[in-house]
Amino acid sequence: MELFEALRGRRSIRNYKDKKISRELLKKIMEAAIWSPSGGNAQAWEFIVVDDDEYIKKIKTLSPGIFDVPAAIVIVCRDLKRAYDIAGELGRETLSLMDISMASQNIMLRAYELGIGSCAVRSFGVSAIKRLFNLPDRLNPELLITLGYPERIPDCPKRRKIDEVVHWWRE
Ligand SMILES: Cc1cc2nc3c(=O)[nH]c(=O)nc-3n(C[C@H](O)[C@H](O)[C@H](O)COP(=O)(O)O)c2cc1C
Repeated sequence: MELFEALRGRRSIRNYKDKKISRELLKKIMEAAIWSPSGGNAQAWEFIVVDDDEYIKKIKTLSPGIFDVPAAIVIVCRDLKRAYDIAGELGRETLSLMDISMASQNIMLRAYELGIGSCAVRSFGVSAIKRLFNLPDRLNPELLITLGYPERIPDCPKRRKIDEVVHWWRE
């Protein structure tokens, strides 16, 4: 798949088929995460891949932003200690958030390339997820990525026009 085609074609998928994703395919998707850029190459990210129904349902009860039952959920965490050790306060407060955002986009694009729908979800109880998975203090869950075979591909939400958002310094 051509890169730009993937950038344009990926949609947030919120309706999934009742079909599991093989671990082999999930591994392929997750491998894309580690190739993201990161500030100071800190790679201050950790990912928890949840593909059992019991825990998917538990996460769903803590996440108003998830509308259907996905086949898997990736809990994208930033490692505050690692971020601080490598890049100080800037790393912990700012860069690590950018890092996990880029890794998340890689995950979603790779999923799309492999025929798997995804949706980034920020609407969830951070401390409840932390407790549910017994995460150490240094790990902050920042984003959930739902994954599954798409039931329905939604229309593309409207984009702001290029000319509205791209400004050329000295035409
Ligand atoms: C940081 C972030 C948080 C988001 N949180 C949610 C969410 O909680 N629930 C949801 O259904 N979609 C969520 N989305 C998906 C956006 O609504 C979606 O990306 C946007 O409407 C554009 O649609 P598209 O992804 O299909 O291009 C989130 C996206 C991002 C980047």
